Amino acid sequence: MPKIKIVPAILSPNFKTINKDLKEIEPYSDLLQVDIMDNIFVPNKTPQAEQLKSLDTKIPLDIHLMVKEPSHNYIMSFINANPELKINNITVHYEACSNIEKTLKFIKKNNIKAGVAINPKTPLEKIKNILDKADIVLIMTVEPGFSGQGFIKEALSKATELRRLKPDMDIEVDGGINDDTAALAAKAGANMFVANSYIFKAKDKAKAIKKLRAAVE
Ligand code: DX5
Repeated sequence: MPKIKIVPAILSPNFKTINKDLKEIEPYSDLLQVDIMDNIFVPNKTPQAEQLKSLDTKIPLDIHLMVKEPSHNYIMSFINANPELKINNITVHYEACSNIEKTLKFIKKNNIKAGVAINPKTPLEKIKNILDKADIVLIMTVEPGFSGQGFIKEALSKATELRRLKPDMDIEVDGGINDDTAALAAKAGANMFVANSYIFKAKDKAKAIKKLRAAVE
């Protein structure tokens, strides 16, 4: 089983306060997910690569592109946005890419881990033939687009099956994660836990992360 990673997520953050929040969570966070939306693949839009210029953090980034047909140039705009930041992975959606293999390969060519995300209704079968091309599989536990939605428990059967097929794979869950749902996801086989509301709406963000970690370890 790969290492547990707690991944706070930001989605259209308040740029006046975000760096202060990031300082607070930095010692407790394994990665920071930056959610990127295009209002085409999902019905919501966030700032694009330019937002990375405003971020000041040592937490390595997990960039989640909820974007239709992300081109090589578009992906490069994130890689080149801010040389002070470290990018751990860029994750693209199976449903949004007409040549997912090519996109994953392009990400990896830039020495960045490649993630493939699947929506709650997308069966694991759809990505079985490309698992060897990905470093991370992101199993969405809400329909992508908004934070603060309810956890879709049915998606966890995919984590169980994937863990059986790939004992060493990074399996990430995202959407509706709190200490209860994260514990269920960990039991199912996930090792990476993304949370926005649970962490950023908490009075004590560091404490929320510690509680999440305790629930899955
Ligand atoms: C959903 C996003 C999630 C979101 C999670 O479209 O991909 O990363 O920020 O938010 P919570 O934790 O509030 O469900």
